Formats: sequence, structure tokens, C-alpha cells
Amino acid sequence: DPATADPTAATAILAVPASRGTCPFDPPPAYERAREEEPAAPVRLWDGSITWMLTRHQDIRAVLGDRRFSADANRPGFPFLSAGRRALATMNASFIRMDDPEHARLRRMLTGDFIVKRAEALRPRIRAIAEDLLAAMTQGRSGERAGHADLVREFALPLPSLVICLLLGVPYEDHAYFQQRSSTILSNTAGLDEVRTARADLNAYIKQLTEAKRRRDEDDDILSRLIRHDDLTDDEIAAMGMLLLVAGHETTANMTALSVLALLRDPVQLGRLRADPTLIRGAVEELLRYLTIVHTGVARVATEDVEIAGRTIRAGEGVLCMINAANRDERVFPGAGVLDVGRDARRHLAFGFGVHQCLGQPLARTELQVALEVLLEGLPNLGLAVPFEEIPFRHDMLVYGVRSLPVAW
Ligand code: HEM
Repeated sequence: DPATADPTAATAILAVPASRGTCPFDPPPAYERAREEEPAAPVRLWDGSITWMLTRHQDIRAVLGDRRFSADANRPGFPFLSAGRRALATMNASFIRMDDPEHARLRRMLTGDFIVKRAEALRPRIRAIAEDLLAAMTQGRSGERAGHADLVREFALPLPSLVICLLLGVPYEDHAYFQQRSSTILSNTAGLDEVRTARADLNAYIKQLTEAKRRRDEDDDILSRLIRHDDLTDDEIAAMGMLLLVAGHETTANMTALSVLALLRDPVQLGRLRADPTLIRGAVEELLRYLTIVHTGVARVATEDVEIAGRTIRAGEGVLCMINAANRDERVFPGAGVLDVGRDARRHLAFGFGVHQCLGQPLARTELQVALEVLLEGLPNLGLAVPFEEIPFRHDMLVYGVRSLPVAW
């Protein structure tokens, strides 16, 4: 039991998720301290249980690349961040919460849809969607004050929503329905019943859509292609559809809005991108590193005793890999606390690492690159419409970001 690993520290055990400090872009100071002082630290979860927290780049890569650590939330000891998250992860699991060989069998059915070549082929369509959203926003069709808008609502959220609905073959009219349920599912504070209901709603919706597509049998979208796999049950298809929707929706949206905010706060870096848009590709990697929106850690449970960071993690003990702390590890990223759009940030862990590394990353990259290009080209005078201190951050969500981003141009 990690609680007894260091009895003198028992009263000082950190509760996770920990609070951020003064800079809302920086990881909680307690994680950064742990990275330097106690790289494998026992920490306390919402229910009082104790798990391990890892914070160094090298240790997290080791764990996420090691098959002795399981992503199966049904195994005793798997660390959860709330009752709601536990309920969710243990219900009708998708392959993000499975181990190989089942994980590989299901993931393989989607890899063809998410290769770099596919994402590149989608670039013109993604660009057209982004340009339409920008035009609608600047023409004030939403009834906003002229020259002002909430960038989250008008641009950052609808862009990935439209793209994932397009890929899955989900009619866009149903987007508001999705939005609401998906954000409940991703909340760290939503109650058990709320999360259960949201999940059941989405599951029922996808099953209905699957039935409709089964009858049509000619659509060329991901759900329709999954239907044509003989060895997939409707439950498996629904779980995969849910995973893509939820994983592809709020992640890219929050990354877009938070990136814009970080750049508006750093006129030097913003100026570099405006002067040389070829820097945008690298800037997206640096922003992924610097902001690391999956900020409450990537969870695993040990299936055997494993030595990590000078400690023995016993079979059945949980591990939280704090990729936000690892992405600020000076051992890998000198000057890690500074946003530098010219940096080579490719070793970042913002998409995870190992067999579960983000399936959607080529798509996410294309969306983020296009979003920044279109915004910087289209809005040369983009700025915040409210003081920075009034921006509402999503501290309580699994995916970090801002709830709204009032901008002016
Ligand atoms: C997995 C981050 C966008 C689909 C992951 C994981 C991370 C992550 C950290 C690993 C979870 C783990 O190991 O337990 C992100 C970030 C995104 C993003 C930061 C945007 C900036 C997307 C998009 C899609 C997607 C656009 C799909 C349309 C997935 C899927 C998995 C995954 C299916 C599970 C892979 C597996 O278990 O094999 N993502 N993601 N993600 N992501 Fe993403």
C-alpha cells in the first residue's frame, strides 16, 4: 500500500486533483514540486483512497509503454477522480479502458480513418468549415455586439463538433444534444446520476443512429463502416462511436480556445506567428506541450510489482501519470515554463504514450493548425474583450480549458 510507503508523510499526503497557482497555464505547483522532490508520490483521491502520482517525463513514458500497467478500470485499485468518473469508466467500456489483445482488435478497425493521410485529405474541408464559422462570427449573425463574440461558442467548439459529426455521420442538428451530454460526461464534479443519464442518452442515440444506418447500408462514414464489420456487436459499435464523439469534441475545442488565449497573453509569440505562419505547425506542438489540457493525469493500475522512480509499485496499486508535469520537465524541455513557438516540442506527452496514444492526433493537429491559421489571417486585430482575470477556466473538468472566451477584433 503506497500509504505506508513513507509513514512520516502520511499526514502530508497531497489530495488530487491539486489546485493551480497564480498562472492558469501552469500545472499545479504541487505537481511540479513532486517532480523535483518525490517523483513517485503517494496521493489521496476523492474517496480517501491512496494511489501513486508520477510526474517525470521518463517515468511516465516507462509506465505508459509497459504492458504490466493496465488501462482496465474494472481492475481493483484503478484510480478514479470522482464517483462520476468511476461510474462512467466501469460502464460499457470502450477500448481506451481495455488492454491488448481486445484493445488492439477494436482500435485496429479505426486506424485507417485516423492516419495522417486521411487528416491531410480532410484539411480543405476543415478549412472551409473554419472559414464559414469565422464569417458567421464576424458578421454577427448570432446577435452579438458588433466586433465581439465568445470564441468558444462561435468557433472553437463548433469546429471539432462539425468535423466529428461529419466523420461519424451524425446529423449536425443533433449537435446541441451531444454537446450538453458530452460535457456532463467530461465533468469531474457532475454527480453519479447525472453522468449515468448523460451516458445512457448518448448511448441510446448512437444505437438509434446505427440502426438507421444499418437499414440504409450505403453511407460512407465511420459508423457505417463499423456496421459492415461482421464481428462487431451493436454495443461495441455504440461504445466506439461514443468514444470518438466524446474524445474528439471537447479536447480540440478546449485546446483551440486555450491556445488563442495563451497567444493573446504573449504578444511576442503571437507576433512571431503572425510574421511567419509557417511556424504554426511547430507552435501547435509547443502549445500542446505548454497547455497539456488532459490535466488530471492518465490513469493505470499495476498488474505485477514494478520498480519505478526508486519505488516498488505493487500489483493492484493505481498510478496517475501527470502528463502536464512531465511536459514541463526541464530534463527534456529546457526552459519548460516558457512558451516558445520556435521550440522543438515533439517529445511532448499531451497525446499520451504507448498503445493508447491518442488515435485522433493527426486529426486534432490538422484542426488546430487550421483554426490558428484562419483566425490569425482573418482577424489581424484579435484581442480579449474582457480583463484576463475575468476569463472562466475549467478547473473542475477532465479536459482543461475556458468556458468562454470573449474576444474583440
Ligand atoms: C486517447 C489527448 C483529440 C480520439 C487519448 C489520450 C490522450 C488524448 C492523452 C490517451 C489516454 C490514455 O492513455 O488513457 C487528446 C488531446 C486532443 C485529442 C489533447 C486534442 C488536442 C482527439 C480527437 C480524437 C481522439 C480529435 C478523435 C476524433 C482518441 C481515442 C483515444 C484517445 C479514440 C483512445 C486510444 C486508445 O485507447 O487506443 N487522447 N486527444 N482524440 N484519443 Fe485523443
